[in-house]
Amino acid sequence: MRSLYLPLLLASSRALAAAPKDYDVLQYIDPLIGTANGGNVFAGASLPYGMAKAVADTDSESNQGGFAYDGSNVTGFSSMHDSGTGGSPSLGNFPLFAYPECAGDDVDGCVFPKLARKTKYTPGSVKATPGYFSIGLESGVNVDMTAAQHTTLFRFNFTKATSPLVFLDLTDLSDSRQDNATISVNEKTGRMTGTAKFLPSFGSGTYDLSFCADFKSSAGLRDSGIFVDARASAEVHDLKISRGINGYPLPGGGFVRFKSPSDGQVQARVGLSFISSDQACSNAESEIPDFDFEKLHQDAIDQWTEKLKPIRVSRNVVHPSVLTNFYSGIYRTMVNPQNYTGENPLWSSEEPYFDSFYCLWDSFRSQFPFLTLVDPSAVAEMIRSMIETQRHLGWLPDCRMSLCKGYTQGGSNADNILADAYVKGLANGINWDDGYAAVKKDAEEEPFDWSNEGRGGLVSWKSKNYIPVEDFDYLGFGTMTRSISRTLEYSYNNFAIAQIARGLGKSADVEKYEESSGYWKNLYKKDQESFLPNGKPTGYTGFFQPKYLNGTWGYQDPLKCSNIDTSGAICSLQNTGPETFESSIWEYSFFVPHDMAALITLFGGPAKFVSRLDYLHDNNITYIGNEPAFLTVYQYHYAGRPAKSTARVRTYIPDFFAPTPTGLPGNDDSGAMGSFVAMSMMGLFPNPGQSVYLITVPFFEAVDITSPVTGKTATIRVLNFEKFNSANNTGGSGFIQSATLNGEPYTKNWVDHDFFTEGKSLVLVLGKNESSWGTGPGDLPPSLSTQSSQAELFHPHAFSGEGVEYKGVGAGQHAARHGRRWSGGHGH
Ligand SMILES: *[C@@H]1O[C@H](CO)[C@@H](O)[C@H](O)[C@H]1NC(C)=O
Ligand SMILES: *[C@@H]1O[C@H](CO)[C@@H](O)[C@H](O)[C@H]1NC(C)=O
Ligand SMILES: *[C@@H]1O[C@H](CO)[C@@H](O)[C@H](O)[C@H]1NC(C)=O
Ligand SMILES: *[C@@H]1O[C@H](CO)[C@@H](O)[C@H](O)[C@H]1NC(C)=O
Ligand SMILES: *[C@@H]1O[C@H](CO)[C@@H](O)[C@H](O)[C@H]1NC(C)=O
Ligand SMILES: *[C@@H]1O[C@H](CO)[C@@H](O)[C@H](O)[C@H]1NC(C)=O
Ligand SMILES: *[C@@H]1O[C@H](CO)[C@@H](O)[C@H](O)[C@H]1NC(C)=O
Ligand SMILES: *[C@@H]1O[C@H](CO)[C@@H](O)[C@H](O)[C@H]1NC(C)=O
Repeated sequence: MRSLYLPLLLASSRALAAAPKDYDVLQYIDPLIGTANGGNVFAGASLPYGMAKAVADTDSESNQGGFAYDGSNVTGFSSMHDSGTGGSPSLGNFPLFAYPECAGDDVDGCVFPKLARKTKYTPGSVKATPGYFSIGLESGVNVDMTAAQHTTLFRFNFTKATSPLVFLDLTDLSDSRQDNATISVNEKTGRMTGTAKFLPSFGSGTYDLSFCADFKSSAGLRDSGIFVDARASAEVHDLKISRGINGYPLPGGGFVRFKSPSDGQVQARVGLSFISSDQACSNAESEIPDFDFEKLHQDAIDQWTEKLKPIRVSRNVVHPSVLTNFYSGIYRTMVNPQNYTGENPLWSSEEPYFDSFYCLWDSFRSQFPFLTLVDPSAVAEMIRSMIETQRHLGWLPDCRMSLCKGYTQGGSNADNILADAYVKGLANGINWDDGYAAVKKDAEEEPFDWSNEGRGGLVSWKSKNYIPVEDFDYLGFGTMTRSISRTLEYSYNNFAIAQIARGLGKSADVEKYEESSGYWKNLYKKDQESFLPNGKPTGYTGFFQPKYLNGTWGYQDPLKCSNIDTSGAICSLQNTGPETFESSIWEYSFFVPHDMAALITLFGGPAKFVSRLDYLHDNNITYIGNEPAFLTVYQYHYAGRPAKSTARVRTYIPDFFAPTPTGLPGNDDSGAMGSFVAMSMMGLFPNPGQSVYLITVPFFEAVDITSPVTGKTATIRVLNFEKFNSANNTGGSGFIQSATLNGEPYTKNWVDHDFFTEGKSLVLVLGKNESSWGTGPGDLPPSLSTQSSQAELFHPHAFSGEGVEYKGVGAGQHAARHGRRWSGGHGH
């Protein structure tokens, strides 16, 4: 069927790659990727976007995701986690721990405090698959676990269980528990309920979490009680516990002890709720009524299988590790954010509530665009949640975890995410008028505390048209740094706002925000030079530089905080100092995603631009382990050299993104890295906020992406793939010589979002060398300053019509197709 479009001009080529056959993709998901070496990936059992996440926690210095595959010690088994985050370790609340018996058959013979109880695990015992995690401790305890949406289920299996004891500790990974945590242990049933207050891992405020733990064993309950510090008692069943005098939370919690079970097992079911322990119990009872581990595990497998359905790639001539890299990347994009709908105590509403947007500065770049392709209804719920958060808290979230505001890193990144969804026609009950009001507020009103939301420096921004270094800002407070990266990011945010304004017909706003999206130019110092640490000139002149309020230039070495900066400088959220965030001026020089044409002109034309971009990558200035690097891999497209983007991505995948525990180059950041891998390997990389996907050679001979919105399947077929790939070669070679789209010759080096929703067919023909394909002026992706000619050039085809009803959308809303920036926006 799909070969019908094979055009005559390709008839002499080898037969078109076959459509990928269906197969079990879960075999290619390895949750252990990125669980060592700072990837901080959550390795345990979770449903897609699940709130409950079960894993063994460790004492590793990289235990942000709980488990670290680095030979550290297990401190407990807990039920709430984030994935891939930096900051302090997140969540990990109410860990369980277990013993087959207590020394001397005395409860005090069991070891309760975290530091004393931690135990080495047997590295070979670790097994992780979607919805399942299992591990063996050197003490002989084997534990496996699975999860429902708000409840986890653990199976403790003892080699010899005389009188097994399981206890729950009122703590978390960061030892952040605040005063007066409570636990009650039911003497008859062993049920434990309670609540404690904790701190978020990269944000402000506190959150309360409640639990409801039930236990099951073939032999009956022997006794139960509470412990405090290293001592326990079966006489006491209620505990309220404070922090110690040194501010460190005292160990304390509840225990249950069983008679000797014939099968050596004790099961623990832990319900969680941010509302109350009653709700934690009802979550547990409804989600896991019967402690049926196999059934629950199968449910998780089914849910993950369903989520992975939209994408299939051909397995012809690829190494299985390539498939593992790809599908595991996809998997990680759906572990976080977390769906806390029904679990939000902060306000009551009918809107969905999502959390663990950790942080949007990371995820706007490719994770949200990726999810918009494969799970648009989930993205719509996330966006509705962001808008509802703004309604109640005044501001769109920028980083959010554990019901708290996280720290802003630069711009107001929800603006980019809303614009991306808007131009891609996401409707699904999103109130775009409110969404627009929310992004506009980011641009117009300064919050009192802009370290948690919104933007700072707006007085200067509006009067001077840049963020000054050492700004005078009396309206609000935040870390007064990052003036360069904030200027660049605010500029892009305003472009994003203009994207939505255009669709909503607010032409004055379009003009205003497009104009201020050009403020990045105001920090460009054309005579600024750059020298390597050894004093040699880089040979490039013209960089962004800090500028004072009075218009005088400041100075920051363009290589400061680059990968090759040897000074030990840190560019984070300090109160004084760095004018870029987590990156160098060198790398930030390329952050003008909306007007690459203007940037290329500023840098002296395409050839000089390409040479500068090569220098960035070849000299290791860029740090591929952090998100600002993502788009730099692909920006050759804008200079008419798409083959160089293909070559470049092959230098990073799989060498820097390998399907191994140590395989990630930095924090996965809630799946941001996973989405970079997934979209790069598909051969279509997004420029977020725009209906633009840059074409590179996929890592597969065939890729099928079925739009959950329209049910149509977009296909990519690579001719001559076998010549340039083998099952032993994980990178591939070969470059695009020619292409067809729906059977017509196609020379543009990008496609728009219709490619997916209309199920188009892209055929790429490979040859050995770079070709002239995609290099002409008319082949380039759109840029703001060249939009008028490009709009004509790139979108001769009209949309099938306004008001196309997207299938399966809740409120039956019309897709916001007229919202597209360059695609068919004319005449509306
Ligand atoms: C495990 O714990 C022991 C005892 O505290 C400690 O010596 C060891 O360094 C820990 N292992 C790791 C990898 O942290
Ligand atoms: C429990 O452990 C025993 C011995 O280590 C093993 O034979 C058995 O398969 C385990 N059972 C489960 C359900 O893991
Ligand atoms: C904790 O409880 C004690 C005793 O009831 C009380 O004095 C104290 O104020 C409480 N602390 C907090 C932070 O609620
Ligand atoms: C989020 O949770 C709610 C309530 O359980 C559910 O109705 C909704 O389908 C979930 N959304 C996603 C994307 O899983
Ligand atoms: C502008 O302000 C900076 C920082 O206060 C100062 O160093 C510089 O001399 C000022 N320039 C002029 C022209 O006043
Ligand atoms: C690039 O930088 C990384 C991180 O600083 C370092 O580990 C690596 O060795 C460098 N590579 C080269 C080729 O210099
Ligand atoms: C290539 O892979 C195949 C299948 O995995 C294997 O049999 C063969 O030995 C490999 N060849 C080389 C040169 O590594
Ligand atoms: C491909 O490029 C190489 C060097 O870059 C050159 O030697 C060779 O002739 C080229 N092959 C073709 C078919 O153009």
